[in-house]
Amino acid sequence: MSRQRARGAGSRSSSRRIVRVARTPTGDGPTDADRSGEPADHVDLTNVLATGEIVACKELPWGSNYSFAVIVRVPDGSIDGSIGGRAVTAIYKPRRGEAPLWDFPAGTLYRREYASYLLTRSLGWGFIPLTVVREGPYGTGTIQLYVDPDEEADFELLRREHRADLQRIALFDLIANNADRKISHLIRDRAGHLWGIDHGLTFHVVPKLRTAIWDFCGEPIPPPLRLELDGLHRDPARVAELRQTLGEHLEMEELDALLDRVAQAVESGVYPPLDPYRNYPRGWW
Ligand SMILES: Nc1ncnc2c1ncn2[C@@H]1O[C@H](COP(=O)(O)OP(=O)(O)OP(=O)(O)O)[C@@H](O)[C@H]1O
Ligand SMILES: [Mg+2]
Repeated sequence: MSRQRARGAGSRSSSRRIVRVARTPTGDGPTDADRSGEPADHVDLTNVLATGEIVACKELPWGSNYSFAVIVRVPDGSIDGSIGGRAVTAIYKPRRGEAPLWDFPAGTLYRREYASYLLTRSLGWGFIPLTVVREGPYGTGTIQLYVDPDEEADFELLRREHRADLQRIALFDLIANNADRKISHLIRDRAGHLWGIDHGLTFHVVPKLRTAIWDFCGEPIPPPLRLELDGLHRDPARVAELRQTLGEHLEMEELDALLDRVAQAVESGVYPPLDPYRNYPRGWW
């Protein structure tokens, strides 16, 4: 991994699509109405991603960090038949492939990526594809289910057809302090479910929200979303559980800052105004 990479070359387009060579179960994910956060075969898929043999690994020639498309073989006999394929396609982002940044501690992006997934699971917000941390060909990193994109779905279409999803993702970005919500990190799959990817620049203690989603600035947080956040905020058992699960991947101060942002969002009840000098994502969208 010595090649210098141009940050921000290209954009999401058909040339960036990974040819699907195995079943990609993300298409069976929850709809807007069913936000349990997991496909029905979640447990099996987690096991497949975590323990299945990686039988192919190909570098993706874009992105700021090294990412690889991988094929993970479904372990024999470990599946109850619900997955219906012999392999799944996933994205592998090894710790060793993370580009150094001045403001985030080195080698922590994959942990932030995984903590983001755990946070969405805790809230029942199923927009981050199933993610695990495991060893791969280049060492420890995240492996996340591949989302087969609907190439026709540009940001304008997402604005028209996925307002509620974008409100949820914008609220997640606010509480996770996501410093890199580009448009290319929003992928609608072929079944019409909107997913968010690339959550490595999250949970910094200093405010760093950088996002392409400005649509809701100054607007009230939709009451159901606010209630969901409040449900976490007011429940000591859930807070303790979150501290425990995320605490394995984040620093204590980062957890404290996260819970402060949750409290602030619940109390204010609005998406805050953003600053054009500070809050746009860096580089390309
Ligand atoms: N779960 C996924 N499903 C489909 N494609 C994905 C997924 N995760 C990543 N990708 C693809 O890999 C590319 C690089 O991944 P990602 O954006 O997470 O990495 P990055 O190096 O942090 O990139 P960026 O420069 O956009 O911040 C994405 O732009 C997307 O094309
Ligand atoms: Mg990134």
